[in-house]
Amino acid sequence: MNNKPIIILGGGGHAKVCIDLLMRQKANIIGYTALQSNGLLFGTIPHLGDDTVVDSYNNEEALLVNGVGMVGDSQFRSSLFERFRSKHYAFATLVHDSAVVSHMTEIEEGAQIMAGAVIQAGSIVGKNTIINTRAVIDHDCRIGDHSHVSPGAVLCGQVTVGQNTHIGAGATIIQHLSIGSHVIVGAGSLVRKPVPDRLTVYGIPAEEAYK
Ligand SMILES: CC(C)(COP(=O)(O)OP(=O)(O)OC[C@H]1O[C@@H](n2cnc3c(N)ncnc32)[C@H](O)[C@@H]1OP(=O)(O)O)[C@@H](O)C(=O)NCCC(=O)NCCS
Repeated sequence: MNNKPIIILGGGGHAKVCIDLLMRQKANIIGYTALQSNGLLFGTIPHLGDDTVVDSYNNEEALLVNGVGMVGDSQFRSSLFERFRSKHYAFATLVHDSAVVSHMTEIEEGAQIMAGAVIQAGSIVGKNTIINTRAVIDHDCRIGDHSHVSPGAVLCGQVTVGQNTHIGAGATIIQHLSIGSHVIVGAGSLVRKPVPDRLTVYGIPAEEAYK
């Protein structure tokens, strides 16, 4: 990580996990933005104001980290990313020191690879996507932008995931499957069949919700 000053967008749980990762890497964190202050985070990281405060920093000098989490079909995280990219701010790509990431992967801008995650050869992780704590992405998977693979989820080899899709905690997606965009896979599910766009599925085996 270079030592450009970093602004964290958001001051909740996901922001704290990002700050912890960055502090371990001795990053230069200026502070966090949020509508309401949560006080000093970890006793040292100050609240700067709401998101509009970012505009007062030069977009070539400050880096952003998207500290807003994503559960279900929330679009807030993706809209923040797009809003500040359109103003030419750059987002830091985070890889926790304990993550195991093959050198034969592509990790795109603003992606966040959290503690204990494993990403195997040939996989691609899209922009602003979270591979959360201890998730496993096996070989040759392609995960689109703004998606979230939750803690402990497993994507077996050659799985494709679209954009803005939430793979729930502990879910398993078997090999060669395609999961669409704006999909929600419930926590603990076992997905054995392709899932088209905009469906919510859950259970073992996973079935479409609300039939
Ligand atoms: C799938 C999910 C989005 C559905 O949420 P919801 O629409 O609020 O659904 P409800 O809680 O109202 O449950 C509706 C029914 O589905 C069942 N259900 C919900 N999620 C389920 C799951 N993951 N596995 C099995 N059954 C599930 C409920 O038991 C309930 O059944 P019932 O009507 O017979 O009682 C949610 O349960 C889920 O799994 N979210 C992912 C959480 C996660 O991964 N968090 C990680 C954060 S880092």
